[in-house]
Amino acid sequence: MKWMSMKNWVLCGLVLATMTGCHPDLWNQDRYEPLESGASVFGEGESSARMLVEGTVPYQGAKLDDAYYRGRNTNGELLTALPEQMTLSRELLKRGQERYGIYCSPCHGDQGAGDGMIVQRGFVPPTNFSAPRLLESPVGYYFEVMTNGFGRMYSYASRIPVEDRWAIAAYVRVLQLSQNATPDLLTDELLNKAKNPPAPKVEAGHGAGHEADNHENKEEAKGEH
Ligand code: HEC
Repeated sequence: MKWMSMKNWVLCGLVLATMTGCHPDLWNQDRYEPLESGASVFGEGESSARMLVEGTVPYQGAKLDDAYYRGRNTNGELLTALPEQMTLSRELLKRGQERYGIYCSPCHGDQGAGDGMIVQRGFVPPTNFSAPRLLESPVGYYFEVMTNGFGRMYSYASRIPVEDRWAIAAYVRVLQLSQNATPDLLTDELLNKAKNPPAPKVEAGHGAGHEADNHENKEEAKGEH
């Protein structure tokens, strides 16, 4: 016996066509994209959306301060110093360090070299924060990247409050300095320490203490790449 006759196939096709809806006329019609510019649908302006009623206040308050919320001055240039709401202090940098450790170091690494654990596991390596281009970029740039995202890095605006984004941006500057410090920035005490580093502790025993073991493991891990 044949599995299905020609007639049944045709019937089946018709049923399917009816179920999926054979009426492209309504689906393929002209339409506007949301907020499409240059389309004056309501005759109120060059947009497919209605204009805001005069005096409208955004939910959760208006974020009119470009410097604080967007990292740019009134001319649209990136800030080269913290906005006036932020005071540079040891406390702020500590907060930045802590937040950086939570949100950024998994990819950018503790020193900002772009070698965090996620990168070691295969994610795209970001540029080292101590690369000349980034050393020269203003502090507002770091705030902007965290706020809007950058290439494959997503935005942190919904996760990190504005104040903390500034604290992190300030801390990135600390990281950059830590990798490019010149001797004249050190106190005499630190300079002395750098010149005469304390002798490394050698553990008693079989010659290979804990530290030596760790070191070997690291070398092995590197070799795998
Ligand atoms: C999930 C991994 C990841 C995390 C977490 C992350 N980033 Fe990134 N970041 C990247 C990658 C990847 C790039 C490069 C993106 C590209 O080039 O497409 C990047 C780029 C950047 C840049 C731009 C560098 C340039 O080349 O101009 C800055 C600045 C930056 N990140 C800062 C931060 C800060 C600050 C944090 C923490 C709030 C953070 N990132 C968290 C992955 C990450």
